[in-house]
Formats: sequence, structure tokens, C-alpha cells
Amino acid sequence: MVKPRYFLPQEFEVSEEFQKALNEDYNRLIEEPESHIKDRYNIDVSSFYGPFKIKNPFGKASGQLSTNKGQVMADIEGGLGFTVLKTVIAEDQDKKAEMDQWKIHAPKMVVEKLVSKNGEEGYSVVWKGRGWEKSLDDYLDFFDQCLAVAGEYPIIPSVKYHLPGPSEEYKLSEYTYTTQKLLEVWKKHKNEDMVMEKDFSPTFAGTDVAGQKDMIISWLQDVPRLIKQSVDEPIHLGVKMMNATLEDEFQRELVREFLGKDSSWLADFAICFNRLFDHNKEFEGKVGVAYGGYDLSDRNLWALEEVLDDKPSRQVSATGNICSGKMMLEYALRGAVNGQMHTFFQIPQSEYAPIDASRTRKAVHELLFNPQKGLVAGLIYIREKLGKGTEPFTFLEVTDLNPYVLVK
Ligand SMILES: Cc1cc2nc3c(=O)[nH]c(=O)nc-3n(C[C@H](O)[C@H](O)[C@H](O)COP(=O)(O)O)c2cc1C
Repeated sequence: MVKPRYFLPQEFEVSEEFQKALNEDYNRLIEEPESHIKDRYNIDVSSFYGPFKIKNPFGKASGQLSTNKGQVMADIEGGLGFTVLKTVIAEDQDKKAEMDQWKIHAPKMVVEKLVSKNGEEGYSVVWKGRGWEKSLDDYLDFFDQCLAVAGEYPIIPSVKYHLPGPSEEYKLSEYTYTTQKLLEVWKKHKNEDMVMEKDFSPTFAGTDVAGQKDMIISWLQDVPRLIKQSVDEPIHLGVKMMNATLEDEFQRELVREFLGKDSSWLADFAICFNRLFDHNKEFEGKVGVAYGGYDLSDRNLWALEEVLDDKPSRQVSATGNICSGKMMLEYALRGAVNGQMHTFFQIPQSEYAPIDASRTRKAVHELLFNPQKGLVAGLIYIREKLGKGTEPFTFLEVTDLNPYVLVK
């Protein structure tokens, strides 16, 4: 198993005055955290998701926690930066989906403690489901309801389109019909280009069959073009790349090919990277399930180190074991401008800040204000390490930084 280089310490130590302020803030509810952080710490935590300006870098990743309007409302009220909706399975005009078997009803999820191959203890969610279990029509209705209440808050649809085997053709009618339908809903509420994610899930991450590498590369190359060609208007497209189950070096090859400086990839941004896949693990009668925890963040951080010097040539949205502001900053030091989470919203609430608030607000408060591993503590630590005292500092500056200056 690969091991990333951590550029940040296990726990942040900052000057006494800020330490005191953080201890105070951590233990109380703060209504508008971002403006408070600006006033008290001279730090701007805003960032971007695709073209959207977001108030902080933390968002909800696509999955079981964004399948109804109530969940999305709780994200907005809880103070997240953005929400990606559950992945819908593309359909054609006759309501047929090549990937129909992806619509699985699987309500049971189990949160497990998991020790990684490198020996760090984290959490992982075990689940045997796949995509949105209902129809595209139901999803369009859900998307419409969410956009109707969202205002400026970014809500992003996610789609899984048909992917052909080695001697098959793409089923283009699914690309055209599904994208067109989503765009119709989007335009009811928005004037700007539609922003969406295309998910390459863990089950497509490869087996040991010959030709897998070529197939993965050609999917990643072809699919953004096919999505963009499927409608007349521009689409701002994020591609959620898979963690290939092939050898580790191949993951870096994908990073070089698609996020390297010479890449001509048509995706506008990349989500790095979807969960790992264990071909042998059994859950509820299914053999082969996805997993996360530190194995996932170790591999993701390691793979992104491939473009450490030049930084990724596309915007990167990080995903995988973001369980602290510190982990967000490790991704940011590899160029990621935001982080999307699933597991962190499912772990025992005793892991969150001790404030009286909704689960989401507590989680966001934990990520921002934890005095030893929170985002603000980390940004103060980096600012002090750079010798910038109490000068204005921004989260986005970290995404441009050469991380080696922190370990000199
Ligand atoms: C139960 C579950 C369902 C998921 N479903 C989807 C999905 O439909 N589409 C998708 O792109 N990612 C899906 N994911 C992956 C998450 O969006 C996320 O990228 C991944 O879990 C890594 O983040 P985490 O370590 O914070 O969980 C799912 C993850 C879990 C745990």
C-alpha cells in the first residue's frame, strides 16, 4: 500500500492568543462562522466548486445522504458549501437504461471502524447499493424541488451514463435524453451554464482482465466529449474519477494523463477519487464492496502528488476520508479547492464539536474550529509557518502553495 507524505503535523500548535480564541469558539455555537473567522482571525475560508463561489470548502458528496429534499435543506441550514445529489442512472426517451441493474434498493448502511494498511484508525461505510434506485422522472422531480429551495446555494446533479465494454458502442440516446432533461430543470431556476458531475464508480474500477487500462482511459477521454455534445448549450462538467483497482502506479498515470500540464481533457474539473473496491469483502450476501477510511485518503493524496510541482491542470474537488480540517488542508496542498464528504456525516456524533445544534452544523463546526485539527487552526499554523504573522490569509492561498516550504 502506498503512503502519502503528510505536510502538516498530527496536531496544530499556534500562538497562545489564537489557541485561546479557538478553545472558546470550539465550545459555542457561532451563527455565521465565515464572517466570524474573518473578523477574529483575519482569515477567508471561501473557495470554489466549479464556477460557484462557496462560503467554505466543505460539501456533501453524492450518495445516500442526498436523496431527498429534507437532507438537502439540512445541508443548507447546517452551513455546508455545496451539495452533490445522489447519482441517477441515465435513461433514453423510452425510459430504458442499459445500467438498469444499478437501481438497487439497499437501505442498510453500516459505519465501521477501520484500521488502514498503514495503521491509522478511521471510519468506513459498508453498503451494497449503487445508483438512485428510482426512475429518471423521479430524479428530475427531486432535482426541481431542491433547486426551488436552494437560492444561490450550489446543488449539483450527478449521472452515471452507459459505458460500453471493449467491443460495444456507447448508447448515445441515454446521453442525449438524460442531459437534455436535466438541463430543462436547471434552466427553470438558473441563468448560468449547468454544472454537473459524471460518476465513475468503484465497481467500474477494473478487474484483472486484459485491456482494462485502455478501456478506463478511453472512457475517461470519451465520456466528457459525449456529454458536452449531447446538448446545444455549454455544460460545466466535473468528472468523478475512479480509484482503479489495478496497480497503484496506474492511478498516477491517470493523474498525469488527465490532470497533468499537457492534458487536453474536456472535463472542467475532477473529483478525486471515488472509493476503493474490495473484491473479497462480503456484506449482506454480496461479495465485493466499496470502502474508504485512511486507505482511501492515503491513495488519493499519494496519487495527487504526481502533479505536486505544477499543480493539477483542472480544478480538483477532493473526496475520501475528509474527517478534519487538517485532512482538507492536505488535499488543498495538492491543489484541491474543496472537499466533498459522505462518511463524516455518518460517524458517531461524539466525534463532533460539543455544541447544541443539528448533526450537519456540529460536523461543520468541528471541521472549522477544532483547536488541534480544524481548518482555522491549520490556516493559522500555515500562516505562522510562512512568517506572515496576523496578515490577511485565505484558504485559496494554500491551494497554490509549494507544500515543501512547510517541512523545510
Ligand atoms: C453509502 C454510499 C453511497 C455512495 N453513493 C455514491 C453515488 O451514488 N455517487 C457517487 O458519485 N459517489 C457515491 N459515493 C461516494 C461518495 O460520494 C464519496 O466520494 C466517497 O464515499 C468518499 O468520501 P468519504 O470518505 O467522505 O465517504 C457513495 C458513498 C457511500 C458511502
